[in-house]
Amino acid sequence: IQWFPGHMLETKEFLRQMIPSVDVVLEVLDARLPISSANPLLDKICKSVPRVKVLNKKDLADPNATTQWLTYFNEKFHGQCVAINGTNKTETWKTVDDAVKTINRNKARKARVMVAGIPNTGKSTIMNSLAGKKIAKTGNTPAITRHQQRAGLKNKIDVYDTPGILWPILENQSGACRLAASGAISDTAMDYAEVAHFTADYLLERYEAQLRERYRLKDPFPSTANELIEAIGTRRGCLKKGGILNWQKASEVLIRELRSGKIGRISLEFPRDHLTPSPE
Ligand code: GTP
Repeated sequence: IQWFPGHMLETKEFLRQMIPSVDVVLEVLDARLPISSANPLLDKICKSVPRVKVLNKKDLADPNATTQWLTYFNEKFHGQCVAINGTNKTETWKTVDDAVKTINRNKARKARVMVAGIPNTGKSTIMNSLAGKKIAKTGNTPAITRHQQRAGLKNKIDVYDTPGILWPILENQSGACRLAASGAISDTAMDYAEVAHFTADYLLERYEAQLRERYRLKDPFPSTANELIEAIGTRRGCLKKGGILNWQKASEVLIRELRSGKIGRISLEFPRDHLTPSPE
């Protein structure tokens, strides 16, 4: 996976300039991968400002994993952590408004909230839900938002968007594959076959029942990533001339269906995946 987001200094500078005029930072994370979809720059630069971690897209995430993540962050992180489906306007408004009210130190005026997160986590969707109207462009491709957007909301909170300034951190291959599987990395920067292989391995380990249900695969059930992709491809008719499997198409089917929730509610990481073993 290749990804050259550049302009790190610009981003730092932008955040540093914004911070003094902000009461609360709304850190939007993908509920399916709340560690891999975070950008640690926020931890460094936004230390002085109360923060709400918003685990968005909870409707696509495994509810069991989301419960574990909420417990994890509420123990480890000094701030608020909530899980929402950003497309649900009422739920989003109520949950975010409550969290902002709880955490905001400056009660005298309406809260100034900065929405930050890596591409495709749902920042614009959340802003639109908070505004109760369409103020920001949304789309299922990373980096749709290019200009800063600001919305005064019902006289209660002021929201500032931070378009395209945070990028995913691709320092380890599994984090990068999770991000690619979720849709946070543009399709042109990823290799479907590689990401599908990683995803198939993971799903076989954690979500066999959902795979069985979705693809109605006959026994013997695939036991390796390649066998699974091959079985899905065959089931979906991803074949080249002569009946040879089209791996690219089969890989795309798996990733597309994962992203859209067709395989079920799947989380790509659990807190236990990030616990460092204690030294012996
Ligand atoms: P950039 O402009 O790339 O920074 O993206 P963004 O963070 O503003 O994300 P955006 O709001 O454009 O949402 C990305 C995609 O995710 C869109 O297709 C949204 O409809 C979808 N989306 C956002 N929130 C949710 C959610 O809670 N659940 C589901 N199922 N889809 C969501």
